[in-house]
Amino acid sequence: MLIDCKSISKSIDEDVRRRVGNLGFSPKLVAITSKPDPSTVTYLNSQAKKAKKLGIEFEVMEGSTMDELLKVISTLANDEKVHGIFLTHPLPEEIDEFELTLRIPPEKDVEGRTPYNLGMLIYEREYLPPCTAEAAVKILESTTEIKGKDVVVIGRSITVGRPVEIMLLKKGRDATVTVCHSKTRDLPVITKRADALIVAAGRPKLVNPDMVNEGAIVIDVGINVVDDQIVGDVDPEVEKKASLTPVPGGVGRVTTSLLMEHVVRAAERLSGKNG
Ligand SMILES: NC(=O)c1ccc[n+]([C@@H]2O[C@H](COP(=O)([O-])OP(=O)(O)OC[C@H]3O[C@@H](n4cnc5c(N)ncnc54)[C@H](OP(=O)(O)O)[C@@H]3O)[C@@H](O)[C@H]2O)c1
Repeated sequence: MLIDCKSISKSIDEDVRRRVGNLGFSPKLVAITSKPDPSTVTYLNSQAKKAKKLGIEFEVMEGSTMDELLKVISTLANDEKVHGIFLTHPLPEEIDEFELTLRIPPEKDVEGRTPYNLGMLIYEREYLPPCTAEAAVKILESTTEIKGKDVVVIGRSITVGRPVEIMLLKKGRDATVTVCHSKTRDLPVITKRADALIVAAGRPKLVNPDMVNEGAIVIDVGINVVDDQIVGDVDPEVEKKASLTPVPGGVGRVTTSLLMEHVVRAAERLSGKNG
């Protein structure tokens, strides 16, 4: 069975639209990029489209050297009309992404990538959590009661795997979490014990039906291009024995909605208005 992510994203969008109306001004999101590749351009176009629909101002700024990018961030950090800043990935090799991330003010870090916002997760305060991790957790929560469940996460990146682990362990959510990575032995043995699987490895068809428990919930975070088609990390056949998020139109869709929700959240806080 496919999990309906469209309705999750729709309800986030409705809430965002209402809160933008209450603000009395258009919150502004700025994406910073450097020599964007075609997938980044596609991603930025979809952000622009969603922002427009929800009444959020959206701009892309580009720099080609560290100096230029540092200047852009410094300007945006001090601009009262800018409420959200995010850096596209991947950035060219010569650009030090961590150094740039350190310069984004945590209150405008709508992607939740700064050490402050990631650190807040460990303190069980989700100030601005990483959007993709939040999307995966939200979809899982909308599908089942997480408390006490065995959740296996495949991938340990800062973008997805690690924040998902911390968020699922949060008191109140109370999942039992196992995190796997490329050096994990006997992956199918581990995935077979899971009530829920969150897969974020960037490997098409890494998870096949034999690796999944009957009736499990499988959240496919992967976005891969195979023969000009977007596919996830999970074999679509898994849908026959488990609940599965679609790709495209699953985690990615909810992530974009949450990014916009973070922009409104940031604008509410920075302007002293609550939604
Ligand atoms: N839907 C969305 O909105 C969204 C947002 C962000 C990313 N994504 C997608 O999610 C996927 C993961 O992104 P990411 O940024 O987390 O990628 P990443 O930084 O490349 O991390 C991939 C992780 O998967 C692990 N891994 C790779 N091959 C594996 C294997 N065969 N078995 C077990 N683990 C394996 C890696 O292990 P090691 O640590 O040992 O290398 C690593 O921890 C990508 O397809 C990306 O496009 C989607």
